Amino acid sequence: MAEQTFVVGTAPGAVPGVGHAWQMMRSPVRFMTALAAHGDLVRIRIGPSTAYVPCHPELLRQVLTGDQVYDKGGVFYDRARDVAGNGLVTCPYQDHRRQRRLMQSAFTRPQLRHYAEAMQDEIEATTARWQDGQVIEAFPELYGLALRVVARTLWSTALDEELTGGVERAFDTVLNGLFRQMFLPRSLRRLPTPANLRYRAALRQLHEVTQRLIAGYEGNPVATAGATPDLLGALLAARDEDGGRLTDAEVHDQVITVMAAGTETVAATLVWAFHRLARHPEVAEELY
Ligand code: HEM
Repeated sequence: MAEQTFVVGTAPGAVPGVGHAWQMMRSPVRFMTALAAHGDLVRIRIGPSTAYVPCHPELLRQVLTGDQVYDKGGVFYDRARDVAGNGLVTCPYQDHRRQRRLMQSAFTRPQLRHYAEAMQDEIEATTARWQDGQVIEAFPELYGLALRVVARTLWSTALDEELTGGVERAFDTVLNGLFRQMFLPRSLRRLPTPANLRYRAALRQLHEVTQRLIAGYEGNPVATAGATPDLLGALLAARDEDGGRLTDAEVHDQVITVMAAGTETVAATLVWAFHRLARHPEVAEELY
């Protein structure tokens, strides 16, 4: 293969002490998409740290596929692990394969059929509440739908509205706070500022809800006898090649991982899809 050469550049406009953190937080999409004009691999500064952003497709391919070389770690993953612990999304390379195999047992063909039925039920229940011409607040509506689907597929049971609302608000606080927390040194993160206290209270709430839901499930003889084809049942029953099972902490981390990974992503994708469809009625018509 012919040798490829790449250009290394530096993003302009770094402010002493802050670097590019302000631009990145204020207008992340504009900042990130403008970087490619400065090289294939672009150096940015976030506070006292230097980071390199791959902007060339080949470099991106190497980073995204070479998970052993480009392992997960650093300030973002440190904070993401406050939420998702050592679950499948945040664990390093050395733990990934075992966890992935154990999780895989929750995604067999019959399980998927069951999840699809739960999704269909929840979609029907949600859309049955809508009327023609009614204006709805799309994000919370679709976030609620995604979270109810996650709950149904995890536990085979419905979540009440109060709990759904509480979890949504807690994730909102944590995910917004995470980007700020990521850039703060430990000494500042520990100060009892209103933002730090809100972040910590929301994290505590998410971990408590997760623990309560798992304990409720484990106390349910029907569920723990494997009679419900759901994700948590499969996780609790999963055994690796040596007969080892996920520890309680690992089950907790996978549950909160799926709650985090399967809600905002789905809601945001649907909101943007509907937004695009509304702007292109001919595409919407073809889709329907
Ligand atoms: C449109 C919706 C979704 C988008 C855009 C999305 C996006 C992504 C991306 C980009 C990754 C790779 C992250 C990384 O390795 O750094 C990922 C991984 C993952 N996602 Fe999603 N996701 C979506 C829906 C979901 C749902 C519904 C669930 C669960 C119910 C989920 C669970 C996971 C898990 C467990 C991983 C880690 C997989 C692994 O490393 O083996 N995601 N997702």
